[in-house]
Amino acid sequence: MRILILGAAAGGGFPQWNCNHPNSRRARQNDPQARPRTQSSIAVTADGARYLLCNAAPDLRQQINDNPALHPRFGLRHSPISAVALTNADVDHVAGLLNLRESQAFALYATTRVLKTLAANSIFNVLNPDFVARRAFTLEETVALTDARGEALGLWLKPFAVPGKVALWLEDPQKGDLGTVEEDTIAYEISDGSGAHFFYIPACAAMTDGLAHRIQGAPLVLFDGTLWRDDELIQAGVGHKTGQRMGHLSLSGEGGTLAAFADLQVQRKVLVHLNTTNPVLLDDSPERAFVESDGWEVAFDGMEITLEGAR
Ligand code: MLT
Ligand code: MN
Repeated sequence: MRILILGAAAGGGFPQWNCNHPNSRRARQNDPQARPRTQSSIAVTADGARYLLCNAAPDLRQQINDNPALHPRFGLRHSPISAVALTNADVDHVAGLLNLRESQAFALYATTRVLKTLAANSIFNVLNPDFVARRAFTLEETVALTDARGEALGLWLKPFAVPGKVALWLEDPQKGDLGTVEEDTIAYEISDGSGAHFFYIPACAAMTDGLAHRIQGAPLVLFDGTLWRDDELIQAGVGHKTGQRMGHLSLSGEGGTLAAFADLQVQRKVLVHLNTTNPVLLDDSPERAFVESDGWEVAFDGMEITLEGAR
């Protein structure tokens, strides 16, 4: 199984369009230690030909252009993207669907909740229903992924809920917890027929006992690296929200991600969904050195990971 990091940044990308924070400035100045990153998405393949896209970022058009593996190969209309699976309805994870118009066949997997959100917004009708099969998956049920015609991709996906929050643009201040329900933030365990498997968790607000147990000893976890510290946006003067308010566990501190993974024996730990303010984005920052010394890798666009099965 091969995993391609299409976009390693969080919503807004790195640099974010309106951000003048020193990180974003360095990225904009082509500083080689501050490599730009597009928004949150990965592609996964078992056969090297047909790909599952996990999340569809607003930068998907650029991501396809930047990755030859996703270029059309046959005839006048073709795409190696055979299926798309969403982890939530965040803008950074669904807006890219608009790039996949119009008459290209693929399967679209999401929870019933996210599919309802898409169905309620007629702009997503650009995904022609004659070609795009929308399929709901059920939490904790492993699904054998197939393309729009029902042909197996050789990939299995098990969706599970993680602590999180309803998409920012769907928040309802009148409701408790902003109207969040369990299905609003999910993550995946993805496996192929060889026994290779990994976890994709681009958003997560807390490490629960259940999640720790699930990923204990895993060969690979791609995990929410949005913020270095919970009050990062406030400290930087660019926002008023904490990471917790945004539905993201931060890396540092006693209750942070690094501490939460300390006893988990995960073989390969990769940070994805990095916010433009996060100092680990900078190759020369002390925070980058710290996470690397703690066994983490910081994902970048174009990063490739090959997983061999045990069987
Ligand atoms: C998030 O991950 O918190 C969201 O993508 C934020 C947003 O919609 O900008
Ligand atoms: Mn996001």
